Amino acid sequence: QKPIKVALLGCGTVGTEVVRLLVDQADDLTARVGAPVELAGIAVRKPNKHREVPADLLTTDAAALVASDVDVVVEVIGGIEPARTLLLDALRAGKSVVTANKALLAEHSGELSAAADASGADLYFEASVAGAIPLLRPLRESLAGDRITRVMGIVNGTTNFILSGMDSTGAGYAEALEEATRLGYAEADPTADVDGFDAASKAAILASLAFHSRVTAADVHREGIASVSAADIAAARALGRTVKLLAICERVTEGDQESVSVRVHPAMIPRSHPLAGVSGAFNAVFVEADAAGEMMFYGQGAGGAPTASAVLGDLVAVARNLVQGGRGPRESAYAALPVRPMGQT
Ligand code: HSE
Repeated sequence: QKPIKVALLGCGTVGTEVVRLLVDQADDLTARVGAPVELAGIAVRKPNKHREVPADLLTTDAAALVASDVDVVVEVIGGIEPARTLLLDALRAGKSVVTANKALLAEHSGELSAAADASGADLYFEASVAGAIPLLRPLRESLAGDRITRVMGIVNGTTNFILSGMDSTGAGYAEALEEATRLGYAEADPTADVDGFDAASKAAILASLAFHSRVTAADVHREGIASVSAADIAAARALGRTVKLLAICERVTEGDQESVSVRVHPAMIPRSHPLAGVSGAFNAVFVEADAAGEMMFYGQGAGGAPTASAVLGDLVAVARNLVQGGRGPRESAYAALPVRPMGQT
């Protein structure tokens, strides 16, 4: 069977683990996919900084790698550009895309989905929300026959690490953030985490999938944890509560009019609530659907290996589709439900 050739764009914390898993599990992946999954190249900015991956695969020319004879493009660069242009080029050329890029999806998922659907390529992005936790596929596929009413949870590991650290050890904010950065949870610029931008991007992706709508990060009412003090945590504790940064996506019904409300903000929750026990960089997301009822998804939401696990799962899915002639969900027709203006809940 002809190998599935993969271009990897970016080789930071997640990309390095993707390479490691691809190499270590090569035989297993071949068996699961039905063809060898071969790394054709790794695009990075500074090749001499990546001694842990095969040097002959490294290139600084991401556009040429995307345009070369590859079947799948895996993107773990993050940020809007050049990721957006590279992925649109890949999709327009009929190459399937696996991406972990939440900021890009939260702004441009409409454009990316349209490009994928026009060429028949796949677009998978499980790693963009809640790291290792299988969450997007359940929303996109397993629950596609149900009516989801609410998705609510902890989707940022760094802020959860900081808040649960402050709650359990009395550690200061700066100390807890430094440790989160050292462990590879925090974004390169941690303001994306602590000001709630990262969680808002993830909330937009979750709401879009859950409600078959097109929610962007700008639609999300957002408040971070920068103003949460040790005194707030102590006050919550005295009330039998703890503080968590929650992403809340709801279907709102008024008369016969339905809309989507999406917000991210710190919330005091009772210590008996299942989300209160989610500590460290773990994420947990509740989903409520009419027929299925309540579900909770829990696991490692950040870090190189857990996020790479989700990337590899997507890679296996798109590679199988290529080998077996299948296709992932088409989502370019989304935009069924209006999004409520910010501030209204
Ligand atoms: N900085 C993110 C977090 C990484 O802390 O959750 C995973 O998206």
